[in-house]
Amino acid sequence: MTQQPRPLDVVILAAGQGTRMNSALPKVLHPIAGRPMVAWAVKAAQELGARTVVVVTGHGAEKVEAALQQPGVAFARQERQLGTGDAFLSGASALTEGGADILVLYGDTPLLRPETLRDLVASHREQGSAMTVLTGELPDATGYGRIVRGAGGEVERIVEQKDATEEERAIGEFNSGVYVFDERAPELAKKIGNDNKAGEYYLTDLLGLYRAGGAHVRAFRLSDPDEVLGANDRVGLTQLEAILQRRIHEGHLKAGVSLSLPGTVLIEDTVQIGRDVTIEPGVILRGQTRIAEGAVIGAYSVVTDSIIHERAVIKAHSVLEQAEVGAGSDVGPFARLRPGSVLSEGVHIGNFVETKNARLDAGVKAGHLAYLGDVEIGAETNVGAGTIVANFDGLNKHQSKVGAGVFIGSNTTLIAPRVVGDAAFIAGGSAIHEDIPEGAMAVARSKQRNIGGWARRYWSAPERREKLAKKLPWLAGWLEKGEGRG
Ligand code: UD1
Ligand code: CA
Repeated sequence: MTQQPRPLDVVILAAGQGTRMNSALPKVLHPIAGRPMVAWAVKAAQELGARTVVVVTGHGAEKVEAALQQPGVAFARQERQLGTGDAFLSGASALTEGGADILVLYGDTPLLRPETLRDLVASHREQGSAMTVLTGELPDATGYGRIVRGAGGEVERIVEQKDATEEERAIGEFNSGVYVFDERAPELAKKIGNDNKAGEYYLTDLLGLYRAGGAHVRAFRLSDPDEVLGANDRVGLTQLEAILQRRIHEGHLKAGVSLSLPGTVLIEDTVQIGRDVTIEPGVILRGQTRIAEGAVIGAYSVVTDSIIHERAVIKAHSVLEQAEVGAGSDVGPFARLRPGSVLSEGVHIGNFVETKNARLDAGVKAGHLAYLGDVEIGAETNVGAGTIVANFDGLNKHQSKVGAGVFIGSNTTLIAPRVVGDAAFIAGGSAIHEDIPEGAMAVARSKQRNIGGWARRYWSAPERREKLAKKLPWLAGWLEKGEGRG
């Protein structure tokens, strides 16, 4: 029998204010690649198989807690932001079970890779350390706490920028703020004081407390210091987003997705894309979107929470939200599929067609300028240009049903609720206010009347005729030629 590894608890520090965001939204809720910053830390913790995840909240606590409600995530309020040491103590108070290694993360460093954290925890355990600090190396580490090592290379202290001497400020190895502690940390942290330049409780002081007890403290060096980049303002956010987008793009490129100009494309982390999908420039893919093999997403299209099946083609400038596009269907350019649009296989949606809560069976064609709302349309029905389903009566929305194999003439208005039988025809320009039986032809427009010679009489009126030669010379000629013909 293999021995169960020790459990891992994760404490995420996220009580700080982030004034420089200049925002009503708490700093850690600002989104990066589709998730609030702090949700990235939660996700990483869960991918590590954390037993308990505690998020320490303070500024905007209600909002942060509301955004992170999910099983396995607990919260601890830090009433006043007295420093990272105090924040950790707040978090540790929510860890009731004990006996675990404790990983500390920040709510504002979304670029940390779960692989890096896994290596960090593994190294901590293999080395039998009491505390392992994740460090990075920069030519200039200004702002960070610095790692002070002893003669034998052992980690001796972490000194904050504010408290550092000239020589210490020249040290390139910095404290990322991520640590793994053994189970003693919550007890030891109670001894942290606030006797420093900032008057804060420094979590970094745990290092000295561990060492004073004869325990081993080690550093684990990041190979890519960008992983612990945080964002203090919106400029910083754009830098994080750019790095994350590059990562997401590379992941998809390696998995067989074509992205001709990835720098112009935004893909949220939650989006799934199959092999041989082509993503044209300017595309935005958000939320729970899934795109199956061989599909094409045309330039400047925006796809949110939608499912695109095999080989479907979304042409340029289309906007899809909570829609489903069947295999081999084509949509756009300039189409809008709103929530509840479900297109079966081989459906054709052309330019300036809007659908909402609409089920279109296989082979339905709506090529131009239509609004299809709250309607089911059967297989192979042809929806003429300018067709409108008038689904709203001013108070309520009504549901309509059009059969299979129907031919809807251009500029038809279907006044909902309406039922159109299979294989029916509707004459162009009809305002359909009664149901149509199967196989019938409906004409619902006034009868045409041609009034002979009307134009000649109209243009011949003296006040119009005068101006005609100058403004409409062809018509003036036509009038003259026909003079006397009535
Ligand atoms: C801290 C470290 C520093 C390290 C740096 C890395 C200490 C004393 N210093 O400094 O060595 O190089 O992180 O970024 O720990 N927070 C709370 N409650 C508080 C204070 C902070 O929840 O009372 C949270 C913040 O929201 C943030 C994280 O803790 O997510 C770090 O706080 P911050 O003030 O940025 O720490 P630094 O002073 O930068
Ligand atoms: Ca910081």
